[in-house]
Amino acid sequence: MPETAQHWYFNKRPKDVIEEDTLILRSEPIPELKDGEFLLRSVYMSLDATNRVWLSDWDTYMDPLPIGARMLGFIVGEVVKSRHAGFAEGTLAVGLTTWSDYVVTTGEGFVPFPKPEGISLADAFGVLAVAGPTAYVGLLEIGKPKAGDTLVVTAAAGAVGALVGQIGKIAGCRKVVGIAGSDTKCRWLVDDLGFDAAINYNKEDILDGLRRECPDGIDVHFENVGGEALDAGLTLMNNFGRVVICGLISTYNSSEPVPGPYMFRNVIMKRLTIEGFVILDYAARFPEYHEKLVGWMRDGKLKYRLHVAEGLESAQDALRLLYTGGNNGKLMVRIGAAPN
Ligand SMILES: NC(=O)c1ccc[n+]([C@@H]2O[C@H](COP(=O)([O-])OP(=O)(O)OC[C@H]3O[C@@H](n4cnc5c(N)ncnc54)[C@H](OP(=O)(O)O)[C@@H]3O)[C@@H](O)[C@H]2O)c1
Repeated sequence: MPETAQHWYFNKRPKDVIEEDTLILRSEPIPELKDGEFLLRSVYMSLDATNRVWLSDWDTYMDPLPIGARMLGFIVGEVVKSRHAGFAEGTLAVGLTTWSDYVVTTGEGFVPFPKPEGISLADAFGVLAVAGPTAYVGLLEIGKPKAGDTLVVTAAAGAVGALVGQIGKIAGCRKVVGIAGSDTKCRWLVDDLGFDAAINYNKEDILDGLRRECPDGIDVHFENVGGEALDAGLTLMNNFGRVVICGLISTYNSSEPVPGPYMFRNVIMKRLTIEGFVILDYAARFPEYHEKLVGWMRDGKLKYRLHVAEGLESAQDALRLLYTGGNNGKLMVRIGAAPN
């Protein structure tokens, strides 16, 4: 057992993009366990677009992370020492904790992570921790797709978007159109994931692309990006369509007020339902979502890819990939070896 642990600390609030000194890595002695605590050895950490939001001074769904605090993220790890009745040594736990290789915790924010049989820990964590439940709730419970609908998804080749499009097909959508930032990502959506069409927003105007690919209009628009894509979607919505605001990643680095959307009038003209959500609010229902998602994973109905950065020290650089499109799939960090 090591005597010291590595932790990332919030050092300096970024003005826009995350910089070299936004977070700093420090080594500290691992304290002795008290009653009711356990020591977690981190294995995988999820990097999420919202991590940048936690570094802002916005009024959000969580208390702001103060400068000088340890950076937060979702981690799955192994309980290596325990004086906690609910977390036995040798078991896996998942939760919102600090960016650390080893951490002593009271277990607050953690739940046991029963790894599904036949699925690797990386796949299980990558799909089930954040992206899968987000895609499931956002599309099925908020977007409420009906058989025959046309569904549009932005950041479609990302962790959430790729799952949304496939769940849309499972739900009977007639046409699923993805928007992504490269030809390679667009080809993956159509050739491997079964999207009906994909639009490369770096090559063509999104509205032109959507007019071509959605001749009957859009019934469900699943927004991960914001800006031009949201406006284009709003422009082409059908009557009584649903607009799911899952994420607005194109705005997370903005220090200036964000303009638009300009076609907001269509919320009235087309009698739209527009709804945002935060997946943390649905934590109590994760077992239900996991059962469905694992079933689809086992049946080969959900394909996904993981983009795994190596080592806790790579975490800050890796996080920046999300805001440039440099990630290919669910972005996570491998902090330590997966237990056998
Ligand atoms: N509401 C919730 O509870 C919840 C939970 C999880 C995630 N989310 C949201 O879901 C979205 C996707 O998150 P994720 O973790 O699955 O990440 P991801 O989609 O795997 O990665 C982010 C992708 O966003 C695209 N992107 C980044 N900046 C962009 C810009 N300025 N313009 C256009 N596209 C841009 C890039 O793809 P391209 O290469 O295609 O540009 C990038 O690969 C985020 O907005 C996140 O905040 C919400």
